[in-house]
Amino acid sequence: MKVTVVGAGAVGATCADNIARKELAQELVLLDIKEGFAEGKAQDMMQTASLLGFDTKISGSTNDYSKTANSDVVVITSGLPRKPGMTREELIGTNAGIVKGVCENVLKFSPNAIIIVISNPMDTMTYLAMQSTGLPKNRIIGMGGTLDSARFKYQLSTALDCSPSDLNAIVIGGHGDTTMIPLIKHATWNSAPVTKYLSAAQQDKIVADTMVGGATLTKLLGTSAWYAPGAAGAALVESILRDEKKLFTCCVSLNGEYGQSDICLGVPVVIGKNGWEKIVEIDLSADEQAAFNKSADAVRSMNDVLKTL
Ligand code: 2OP
Repeated sequence: MKVTVVGAGAVGATCADNIARKELAQELVLLDIKEGFAEGKAQDMMQTASLLGFDTKISGSTNDYSKTANSDVVVITSGLPRKPGMTREELIGTNAGIVKGVCENVLKFSPNAIIIVISNPMDTMTYLAMQSTGLPKNRIIGMGGTLDSARFKYQLSTALDCSPSDLNAIVIGGHGDTTMIPLIKHATWNSAPVTKYLSAAQQDKIVADTMVGGATLTKLLGTSAWYAPGAAGAALVESILRDEKKLFTCCVSLNGEYGQSDICLGVPVVIGKNGWEKIVEIDLSADEQAAFNKSADAVRSMNDVLKTL
């Protein structure tokens, strides 16, 4: 199996590092536009191989897409990251051009690849990838909800003083500070509803802290986070390459599911060798459905900006 990660910045490099450590692929290509940058990161990572005991062959490329030929999965992390005080949405103009160009180049050499989009604003970049490539919808996956759900579990585990791995909790809707919807009423600690153990105030705080999870880190770090975004990308790669059919929340093209069409938005999906294989519909309360529709409206108006570029 071969994986390409486009963008060797912090998120791309962390994603590649996770893929290598787990030996998800025989071959891993890191590509960046900055001269020598991806080659340097690839060499640095390869020098951990004997220490960490992995056999994945990592190579770097400065914008030479022929090196990425015949990739099974391509993860796109390129584009500007957020700076403190910046929303993901403010990146749209610059990142749209970058993501569109990357998709074209990738498909020239890997026409059968499954594409995972991490670049922000993620919902609009996923929609753009869908529109500009015309690929079957199952082969375009936006990573946002996978990351947001992991952040939700972190917040819940801190409040409950429990293992994040014992939690089932998802965030649907957009990958924006005001568009994501942490479904706390559906969250369980193994099979027990988490709401049984948390006061209303605690629940509100967990939801609010989850929604600004990315912004909180951007403020602390001076740039976008990378460990969890990189790990989330790698978890999706793993489920695809190992055909695990794990359930993740991802941004995918909706065709009537959850009452929405002509939009890419975060919903629970089964991830396997064909990309996203099935949307799982859960019963939303009237409030949750209203929040989902509001999130769709916000993402749709951002998608409309694409027409003006
Ligand atoms: C985040 O939320 C990078 O959008 C990403 O940290």
